[in-house]
Amino acid sequence: MAPASRENSPGLELADEKILVLDFGSQYAQLIARRVREQNVYCEIVRHDLDAATLAGKKPKGIILSGGPSSVYADGAPQCDPELFKLGIPVLGICYGMQLACKSLGSEVGHCAAGEYGRSVLQIAKPQGLLAGLPAETDVWMSHGDQVDRVSDDFVSLAATGTCPYAAVQHKSLPVFGLQFHPEVTHTPQGATILHNFLYAVCGCDGTWHMSDFARATIERLRTEIGDRRVICGLSGGVDSAVTAALLYKAIGSQLSCILVDNGLLRKDEQAAVLAEFTNHFKADLHIVEAEEQFLDALAGITEPQQKRKTIGGLFIDCFKEEAKKIDGAEFLAQGTLYPDVIESGAAPDGPAATIKLHHNVGGLPEQLGFELVEPLRDLFKDEVRKLGLELGLPEQLVWRHPFPGPGLAVRCLGEVTKEKLAVLREADHIVVSEIKAAGLYRQTSQAFVVLLPIQSVGVMGDARTYENAVAVRSVNTDDFMTADWSHLPYDLLSRISNRIINEVRGVNRVCYDISSKPPATIEWE
Ligand code: XMP
Repeated sequence: MAPASRENSPGLELADEKILVLDFGSQYAQLIARRVREQNVYCEIVRHDLDAATLAGKKPKGIILSGGPSSVYADGAPQCDPELFKLGIPVLGICYGMQLACKSLGSEVGHCAAGEYGRSVLQIAKPQGLLAGLPAETDVWMSHGDQVDRVSDDFVSLAATGTCPYAAVQHKSLPVFGLQFHPEVTHTPQGATILHNFLYAVCGCDGTWHMSDFARATIERLRTEIGDRRVICGLSGGVDSAVTAALLYKAIGSQLSCILVDNGLLRKDEQAAVLAEFTNHFKADLHIVEAEEQFLDALAGITEPQQKRKTIGGLFIDCFKEEAKKIDGAEFLAQGTLYPDVIESGAAPDGPAATIKLHHNVGGLPEQLGFELVEPLRDLFKDEVRKLGLELGLPEQLVWRHPFPGPGLAVRCLGEVTKEKLAVLREADHIVVSEIKAAGLYRQTSQAFVVLLPIQSVGVMGDARTYENAVAVRSVNTDDFMTADWSHLPYDLLSRISNRIINEVRGVNRVCYDISSKPPATIEWE
């Protein structure tokens, strides 16, 4: 099975009504699709150069032209079929998409000297159409060098910013709309209302699509594409791999084999928790590989973070391969890759190229084993995966579990990783997570953990001097893990966490709280 391509989001073909997003290379195309799905309308991303007849054949209720990095006048700039504006299907152009729509319909696009990047104030002259129900002034997020300079007589200008005279436009006779700003990002607070107006008032959608439709259609698709063949799925204890396994289990039942590699870098009691959840919810074949010693031996003496990741990733592949060989006739490998993973690893065709950290722990596995890859969550964001997990009947405590990195506690144990250090880290980590849960704040925080620092500091316990480890508590709030803020946890909670760690975890005499946001820091310390 080919990995889900950006030309055809998988598993959603059963939707009654849909919106198509023509992708002109925007980093926000998936975000647009997700914002539409949030409003209960199915959305599919397609190539920008599909001809009008093909687009019409897909029977969309509306078409959105995404932004993109090009200038409409540049050589080789991606174009769309101009006939699509005459189909009678509502079209919303965003940023580059707007410039393309306006240019195709007789307006002029030019380069604005300073460009406009970041927050701008939109002055709404005509609160109608897309902008119905909006206040006279609202913040919007801009990110453009070109803009529409002059509109043809066929367009009405609805709103402007200080430097952009045509920030929102509407065609007088065709159902064509343009926005120079980005309604899909959270920095445009009225963005959801604008998209709602497009979907419901302009396109006439009924809003009948739900995550259950995604589940149903994905299960159908997996069943058809896998047939009677066998699939291996790696389990990590996290929500992504559990939801992937749940989808596959519903699709192919006993043809699914799962492998959990216990690398000795898991949190306290994690293997037992995965096992309990797994046996309660699936009856699939489960293989547990006990590999703590192998991993600790391989990590001995390594202090450099990327080297740790490479070592863990390489050994993970070896352990996984060994176990997979015991599973006869497997042809597919399932992975819980999400859309942000695709972007952060620079793997998306138009994603940012820089790889910040090596995230893909099983990278290379499918090719080495001759597997085909199955990635049913590749188009989804974390919160959509959680919704899907609940839809599939997974328990809340699993669905809401904070994410945990593949290299596990190794990247939270700064410097060399040893069994003793891991034991200290595990206990401290357990206290933090339990206290945050007891305070009812686990769901409101996105990821909370402890980092064991490679330093000792002086303390006093009883009347004696101590010289012991310092740990940092890290708790962040984020929607997408690409940017994050530190959690503003109550002081009394921080105080309880600190007291308990210092009193209960031998070898720690100092607790710090990490108050850095991402960027410039990252969530993990390594
Ligand atoms: P950073 O530290 O890059 O983390 O801000 C963003 C999110 O990714 C997780 N993370 C990883 N996940 N393998 C993974 O599977 C990795 O090597 C890895 N590094 C970071 C991190 O826990 C956070 O949720």
